[in-house]
Amino acid sequence: MKRLRRLRQNEIVRDLVRETRLSVKDFIYPIFVIDGENIKTPVKSMPNIYQYSIDRLAEILDKVRESKITGIMLFGIPKTEDKDEFGSKAYAEDGITQRAVRYIKKNYPEIYCIVDVCLCEYTSHGHCGLVKNGKILNDETLPLLSKMAVSLVKSGADMVAPSDMMDGRVAAIREALDLEGFINTPIMAYSAKFASAYYGPFRDAAHSAPCFGDRRSYQMDFANGKEALKEIESDIEEDADIVMVKPALAYLDVLKKASEIYNMPFAVYNVSGEYSMVKAAAMQGWIDEKRIVTENLIAMKRAGAKIIITYHALDMAKWLNE
Ligand code: PBG
Ligand code: ZN
Repeated sequence: MKRLRRLRQNEIVRDLVRETRLSVKDFIYPIFVIDGENIKTPVKSMPNIYQYSIDRLAEILDKVRESKITGIMLFGIPKTEDKDEFGSKAYAEDGITQRAVRYIKKNYPEIYCIVDVCLCEYTSHGHCGLVKNGKILNDETLPLLSKMAVSLVKSGADMVAPSDMMDGRVAAIREALDLEGFINTPIMAYSAKFASAYYGPFRDAAHSAPCFGDRRSYQMDFANGKEALKEIESDIEEDADIVMVKPALAYLDVLKKASEIYNMPFAVYNVSGEYSMVKAAAMQGWIDEKRIVTENLIAMKRAGAKIIITYHALDMAKWLNE
């Protein structure tokens, strides 16, 4: 008989043979920054997640610093009256994200600041691209995304992460950054981003729900695994530095397969709905939060993620540090 249980007899030997470990260095913590003063508003559908105005960002950035998490992903929320059909404030020098990045890099220079590049928080219609006659335009959106990326990098962003799912945006953004001399600023592409109900709570948090239709003409059909490989491949060809699969848990098959095929660092986005489901059950006392979160995050890493973008990052860092 083969005795596989020999290596499970105590924690020392289990530790020795353990294949996957979590580190605070794996995590990117998403932060919502909202235009205005003295704001710390709880996101109702995301327990313990808040929208902060710039003057109160320190409350969360201090926690990030203490936790030893090295990177954040920033989402800006403009005033409703500042939204327009072109998402102008997404690429304005005085835009909320631009101001937030300048504040962060001035006061927390050691925190690696990744910015989400997408128009949906800034457009009056809530779509990720320009809209004409009810259709989302692809090519016309690319220059705007490029302008947004350049203006955020000029403000001090360390990395840009386009999440819009327009075709050709990685190449367009790369070219625009290079033209401005930002040849060393990496692009983390939301490559295999599926049209998912798991983004529901995020859209409350970021005020970015589309006001008509849905995102299925640009985000991927969740029935398709092979197509995800095509998306990833085309972003690699366009010189993405890091590729992402999003959401995480229902898409670990995609992550596993892609990370075995492509010699690239893979990121996975453990999205809002995934977070909120765990939180809700934990708050009821139905599950053991620490153990469930550890199991989920380990699964993402085991499936091939190098980087995990997760709202659990602060909690997990606390558990890892204790
Ligand atoms: C913006 C964007 C979304 C998320 C990240 N960037 C929402 C969407 O595409 O509708 C989702 C993140 C989450 O659910 O936590 N395009
Ligand atoms: Zn968007």
